[in-house]
Amino acid sequence: MLVPIPVEMKAGSGGFTITSGTVVVASGPAVAEARKLVDGLAPAMGCRLQLADGGEPRDGAIVLRIDESLRQLGDEGYQLDVAVNRVLITGPKPAGLFYGIQSLLQMLPPAVFRQAPVVGASWVVPCVSITDYPRFGWRGLMLDTSRHFMPKTFVLKLIDVLALHKFNSLQLHLTDDQGWRIEIKKYPKLTEVGAWRDETVVGHAGKKPWKFDGRPHGGFYTQDDLREIVGYAADRHINVVPEIEMPGHARAAIAAYPELGCHPDQPLKPWTVWGVCPDIYIPTDKTIGFVQDVLTEVLALFPSKIIHIGGDEATKEQWKASPVVQARIKELGLKDEDQMQSWFIKQMDTFLAQKGRRLIGWDEILEGGLAPGAVVMSWRGERGGIAAAKEGHDVVMAPTGWTYFDYYQGPPEKEPLAIGGNLPLKKVYEYEPIPKEMKPEEAKHILGAQCQLWAEYLPTTRQVEYMAFPRAAAMSEVLWSPAERKDYTAFLVRLAQDLKRLDILDWNYRKLDKE
Ligand code: ACM
Repeated sequence: MLVPIPVEMKAGSGGFTITSGTVVVASGPAVAEARKLVDGLAPAMGCRLQLADGGEPRDGAIVLRIDESLRQLGDEGYQLDVAVNRVLITGPKPAGLFYGIQSLLQMLPPAVFRQAPVVGASWVVPCVSITDYPRFGWRGLMLDTSRHFMPKTFVLKLIDVLALHKFNSLQLHLTDDQGWRIEIKKYPKLTEVGAWRDETVVGHAGKKPWKFDGRPHGGFYTQDDLREIVGYAADRHINVVPEIEMPGHARAAIAAYPELGCHPDQPLKPWTVWGVCPDIYIPTDKTIGFVQDVLTEVLALFPSKIIHIGGDEATKEQWKASPVVQARIKELGLKDEDQMQSWFIKQMDTFLAQKGRRLIGWDEILEGGLAPGAVVMSWRGERGGIAAAKEGHDVVMAPTGWTYFDYYQGPPEKEPLAIGGNLPLKKVYEYEPIPKEMKPEEAKHILGAQCQLWAEYLPTTRQVEYMAFPRAAAMSEVLWSPAERKDYTAFLVRLAQDLKRLDILDWNYRKLDKE
C-alpha cells in the first residue's frame, strides 16, 4: 500500500518477518541509511536491531547496499527485493536506499509508526520485487512561516511526513510584510522589531471594515534552530530552500530599518492584514548591500544550491512617486520601474552566482529580462513557466490552480475559513506538471513542482496539517510516479492505508469525502 506508487512492483507470495533477531547489514555510505532503518523500527518493535558490516544477501537479514551498476535508476532510485528469508535494498546512492527504507516501512503495518512498543504485533513485509525512481527531481512543498510563525518542532514533524512521501525539497518562506522569521546577526532589529506584529485581522481580509484580534503575534528561528532544521532535513534527503523576499513583501524589514523603505520619515510596523502591501525596498546601494549581507548569513546556514529571492507582487507605486528612485532609474539608464526590478534581481543573481549558488524566484522575475542561470517558479498559472522554459530557464511549476494548498478543498460553507479558490484532492491528483504544448527540449527544463502552504488563514499548525494532507499525498504521486501509473480510484485505496499512518503520526489531515 505504497504512496507514491512505485515504477514497477511484482508481488510474490509469503513474507519476511522482522523480529528482534533480524540483523541489518550494510557497509560504507549505506551504514548511515541502515541506522535510520534501525531507528525507525526501534520504538514500535521495542528493540534495536543489530547492525552488521557487509553487503551480501543473507538469511534473516535486511541488507542495504550501494550498487553503482544501478546508475540508470538515478541518484534517488532503488530496488527493494523482499524474499521469505531476507530483504535486499540496493541503489546507486544513499538517497535511493533511504527511499527503499520508506517503502519498506510503508509495507509494514501502520503501527510501525507508533512511538512505544506495540504489544502482539507481527512485523511481516509481503514478498515483493520493486524497481523505483522518481519522475521529477524537484518534489517540493513550501511553508509560509511569516504570516503565522510555525514552531520548529512542527517543521521537523512536517519534514518527517514529507520524507515518508518521498518529497525532497522544503521551501521556507522566511520573510514577508507580516513577520521576519530568520535571525540575522548583523541586523538584530529584523527579529527584535520585524518578527512581531501588534495584532492580526480577524476573518477574511477581503471583507471590510477590518476587525483585529488585539493580540501580538510573532516568533523567529535562531540561526541554531535553522541549522537544526537543515540538518534534520538533510538526514532525510530533503533540501531546505530559504526564501528571502525582495523587493516587495518587505514591510517587516522596513519596519525594523526604515531607511530601507521609500518613506524613511514615516515609520511603519509589521503589517497586520493580508493582501499585497505597497511597501517596497528602495533600490539604493545601501539596500542592495543590506540584502546581500542578509544573503551572506543565509548562505552560511543553508547549503541549498538554489536560493529563493521571492520577486513576486512588487507594486511600483512608491517607486513611481519617489524622486530618489526616479533619479536612480535615470542614473542606471533604465527605462522604467519594471526594469528597475529586473536590475535589482540581477544584482542578486550575480551575487549568488559568485558564491556558487543559483537564484530562483516567482515568475515576475521574468519581467524586464532575467539572468541566464536563474530558475523560475511559475505560480500565476503555467504561462510563466512555459515562457521561461522557451528561454532556456529551468522551471518549478507552482500554479495556483493545482498547487495552492491554501485554497479550499471542499465547499467553503463546510470548510474552515481559507483564502478562497477550489482545489479538491482529485484535482491535485490529476495535475500534470508538463504542459501539453511543450516541446520535449522545453519539457527538460521542468524540474518538478511544489505545493504551497501560504499561511494567512492557517493560524495553527493543526490547520496547516489539515490543508497539507491528503493533498500532498496526491502530489507525491504526481511528482514521483510515472504518469501512466496514475489511477485515482486505485490511489484512494492506497490512500486509506496512508491515512492510517497519518492517524498514528497525529496528523490532522482532512477527511475524505464520501463518494
Ligand atoms: C505568490 O503567491 N504571491 C507567489
